[in-house]
Amino acid sequence: MDILITHIKTLVQVSDTPPAFRAGQDMSELPVINDAYLYIKGGRIGGYGPMSGLEPFRKQLGTRKLREINATGRMVFPCWCDAHTHLVYPASREMEYVDKIRGLSYEDIAKRGGGILNSAARTAVVSEEELFEDAMPRLEEIARYGTGAVEIKSGYGLTTESELKMLRVIRRLKERSPLTIRATFLGAHSIPMEYRGRQHEYVDLVINEMIPLVASEGLADFIDVFCDKGFFTVEDTERMLMAGLKYGLVPKIHANELDYSGGIQTGVKYGALSVDHLEYTGDAEIEALKGSGTMPTILPGAAFFLGMPPAPARKMIDAGLPLALASDFNPGSSPSGNMQLIISMGCIQYRMLPEEAINAATLNGACAMGLEQELGTITVGKMANVFITREMPSIAFFPYYYGSNRVETVILNGKVIRPTGR
Ligand code: NIG
Ligand code: FE
Repeated sequence: MDILITHIKTLVQVSDTPPAFRAGQDMSELPVINDAYLYIKGGRIGGYGPMSGLEPFRKQLGTRKLREINATGRMVFPCWCDAHTHLVYPASREMEYVDKIRGLSYEDIAKRGGGILNSAARTAVVSEEELFEDAMPRLEEIARYGTGAVEIKSGYGLTTESELKMLRVIRRLKERSPLTIRATFLGAHSIPMEYRGRQHEYVDLVINEMIPLVASEGLADFIDVFCDKGFFTVEDTERMLMAGLKYGLVPKIHANELDYSGGIQTGVKYGALSVDHLEYTGDAEIEALKGSGTMPTILPGAAFFLGMPPAPARKMIDAGLPLALASDFNPGSSPSGNMQLIISMGCIQYRMLPEEAINAATLNGACAMGLEQELGTITVGKMANVFITREMPSIAFFPYYYGSNRVETVILNGKVIRPTGR
């Protein structure tokens, strides 16, 4: 049934002709309508405006059956677009978390066969069904925090069979979940133990066996490579991105998390939709990103969890770049997909203004998944993925009041998925 939300305190991120993304100074622009209504028709945004225009609008609608929601004191936002997650995984890894507290680094743990390889060993022995049953509640959980679109990566397989298994799970999630999902093939997430010292042979396997099979089953939208110190080199990355591009897989890569790895420049060179992490971003990287069409994507959850220095978000925005914020939801470096927390971290740790952080998690996040025509703003014709907040005094209250769920009702594809209550 169509939905009419009335008496909205503030309708946030509303635009008749939205840009594909916001960059630099424009990131602090967040258009709103105060005291607004929003009409949702058949899964799409059908109209909006100030309450003063509601009666004439109602006349246009005639006698259509509607579900009306009175949102007095509440705000309405487009749902978060989380452009980087690994939320299909076989098991949590809290023992490594304890090891980290004891002083081991992410790289120490990886060298010992922990980390990503630990997850890969478990993926090999769980069924597609189990992976699916575990992942679905995670999707439901992030939706309750307001996420409406999410990218999910493979990369805990690291064998042809297990990578395909993960991607088939993501395909089933796409079919069964109301969230909009994009799938990324991340066969080059880590180098399996048996390939240590002959890493190029693993790269050959990704290129000659995995990519063609992934493409023939149409299992992925994007290709990712962890291009960083101790993982894949620029040369490895280039070879894999070229192979992926032949099959229409657009790159979205892990870059510059552990060092000035050249990953950012490589991503830009191959037309990556996004480069993600970016803790090691200097002037050369910022220059490479300018005007490139590659969305720099920061993952505050991973930097927080691993105790890393934050990416220079302020410097990047001040240099005129766009930024997206994403959760990196995964069992090793960011075991949370709560985008509300990510936005608060964006403001507190990265000195982003609330408006900048909200742009980074809506429109720019959509752009980092190639979904900016469909999602990320309140625009007539876009998909009706929106949430209604609890009562709140201002937009800045959203990142400020971190730690509790400020989302009360989530609407995906024009349907209320779960009134979360109080
Ligand atoms: O994005 N940086 C590489 N990959 C993941 C970590 C995955 C893991 O530790 O399981 C990330 O942080
Ligand atoms: Fe990641």
